[in-house]
Amino acid sequence: MKVFITKRIPDTGIQFLRNKGYEVVIRDRGGLISAEEIVHGIRDFDGMISMLSDPIGADVLAEVKKCRIIANYAVGTNNIDIKTAKKLGITVTNTPDVLTEATAELAMTLLLTASRRVVAGDRFAREGNFQGWEPLLFLGKGLDGKTVGVVGMGRIGRVFARMVSGFKAHVIYHSRTKQDVSYPLVDFDTLLKESDFISLHLPLALESRHMFTEHQFNKMKNGVVFINTARGPIVREKDLVAALNSGKISFAGLDVYEFEPEITEELKKMDNVVLLPHIGSATEKARNHMAILAARNIDAVLKGEAPLTAVQVE
Ligand code: DGY
Repeated sequence: MKVFITKRIPDTGIQFLRNKGYEVVIRDRGGLISAEEIVHGIRDFDGMISMLSDPIGADVLAEVKKCRIIANYAVGTNNIDIKTAKKLGITVTNTPDVLTEATAELAMTLLLTASRRVVAGDRFAREGNFQGWEPLLFLGKGLDGKTVGVVGMGRIGRVFARMVSGFKAHVIYHSRTKQDVSYPLVDFDTLLKESDFISLHLPLALESRHMFTEHQFNKMKNGVVFINTARGPIVREKDLVAALNSGKISFAGLDVYEFEPEITEELKKMDNVVLLPHIGSATEKARNHMAILAARNIDAVLKGEAPLTAVQVE
């Protein structure tokens, strides 16, 4: 049987499939995939490993011939029309758990890097501007005694909250339902009003698209630190730029963008913003485990067994 992979993933996953006798075809190029290439994958292959940047909507799914599984190489599956896939009998799987620590770690990294001005300070030092210790040089915001608002208390939110708790900070969270954690659950407005730092850990869905616009930014404390490692379209990026310009948000750390891979030009010019190229899960360990999990899901479904991590239709 034949499996199509839309970008090169770690060899662990490719070897796993080849050792089981699958013919594996890899689209071995950078850049975004075209609709024709996705159609080729789901029309001519038995299974496909897709990336979070591959848009798999009803239009391309309509072309399906023999594909029985789309194994998304990510925990988020907002790039796939899950309902249509289910109607067509295609299993969709994702890669939960194996990237939790890595992604939470990156959110923590962004929080500290942005709020302690690490990137701007590094640039300043490299450019030969360091003339000696200064009492007012690169003052940032530390976590000591601060309130960190976690939006979404799923796997990644929990690990992030655990990491924050290692500092002298107080965690509050907002989520649709109360979770089995010791941090206080608060309504959305309370989180916006009380947090000194806000970090997003929720999936992109109809209800979370543009959950953060001018309206929500205006309710936040002046000088709040804002971190997004979840999905770009949860935030209206032009309103984020305005909130950074007005000082409402003092620092931001972003791994994801509303119009990814495009990044709003103004953000690139601000030195109170740290920008990363969607590398939340980018550790060797996480990416290897994601590759094996995606490959095992493909193998299970093509053998007629239950997938390990199927995505459920809500
Ligand atoms: C995912 O897997 O959804 C993450 O965004 C990867 O960084």
